Amino acid sequence: MEDVRPTNGLTTDSEMMFGFWYPALRSSRVRGRGLRKTTLLGTPLVVGRDDQGGGFALRDSCPHRGMPLSAGTFDGETLECSYHGWRFHAKTGQCREIPSLVSGSKLKVDRIFASHFPCEEQDGYFWVYMPDPSAPNEPAPPAPRLPVFSSRYRMTHLSAELPTSVDHGIIGLMDPAHGPFVHQSWWWRTRHSIHEKEKVFEPVPNGFRIRAHAPSTNSAPYKLLGLSGQPVTTTIEFRLPNMRFEEIHSGKYWFSSRATVTPVTANHCRIDFCAAWNILGWMPLFVPLFRIFARMFLGQDQRTMEKQAEGLKHNPSMMLIDDADRPAKWYFQLKSAYLESKRTGQPMVHPIPGPIALRWRS
Ligand code: FES
Ligand SMILES: [Fe+2]
Repeated sequence: MEDVRPTNGLTTDSEMMFGFWYPALRSSRVRGRGLRKTTLLGTPLVVGRDDQGGGFALRDSCPHRGMPLSAGTFDGETLECSYHGWRFHAKTGQCREIPSLVSGSKLKVDRIFASHFPCEEQDGYFWVYMPDPSAPNEPAPPAPRLPVFSSRYRMTHLSAELPTSVDHGIIGLMDPAHGPFVHQSWWWRTRHSIHEKEKVFEPVPNGFRIRAHAPSTNSAPYKLLGLSGQPVTTTIEFRLPNMRFEEIHSGKYWFSSRATVTPVTANHCRIDFCAAWNILGWMPLFVPLFRIFARMFLGQDQRTMEKQAEGLKHNPSMMLIDDADRPAKWYFQLKSAYLESKRTGQPMVHPIPGPIALRWRS
């Protein structure tokens, strides 16, 4: 019998995955010594940048009496809580000063810490590592980086908030069958352009990928890349906990994108889309045009999921059908296999045994 996660209740009790990096905030949101509040996996954070240029992330809660540290002040190295003036080193969370202590006090100030998280800036985001509570001291791996294939390239970012659990955000992202209905427009495709597709999927560590293939001829960006005269190939890959990568190559030209779906709380997630390319840098309108179209697509997905969230409030059961919903089934299987291996300490059993062709109409 196929192991598919419970088909109801996904809206409220979708488990969030700790032990990974998540994009917390765009880099451009923090200026100078400014402090920004954000939330990741239900955890309130205050994020900033110290005078050395290093990002930091602390739980937005003073260990004294819970005052949000984001309400305090930052001198470039330490944060001062606005309630009783305790000071904390931004990078390590270590307490540096408690103004109310009298001389000779026995309290060991340097043993007090505000919770802090590894934080790095990469690809225009503050990434924050949310450690596994069962292994809080496990060192963080390097922060994720968008694959790029030349030294010069352009990069752009978009995001959309979704009022659903991270699971619905992710399976919406990996869903091949909604295109003709959600993303129809006269110049792109209509519901009548629906046709049968077959693609070979193969397992990769913590995920799966669509094997490199020539993209469907009806899509405009691929046509542009094809102007190089070289064959165009594309690969799409999903990796736990939340990342979809797409790469398109044609001769020396490339386009690389990553969409992450980040759980903000149990019922709210955010898609962060980041793309880089070395094509058409000379075309002055390419970046604004690309952003207009990408924003339109993301907006269509966003409005769809806002409506879906209305339906999900009533906790409906779900049907995942073959083959169009197979990537969604794999996502749930990968997630539970990963969580199971964390629980047992055994190596993760990958749910996809080998390459497999999926067929659907879209
Ligand atoms: S609550 Fe932060 S110093 Fe008292
Ligand atoms: Fe979509």
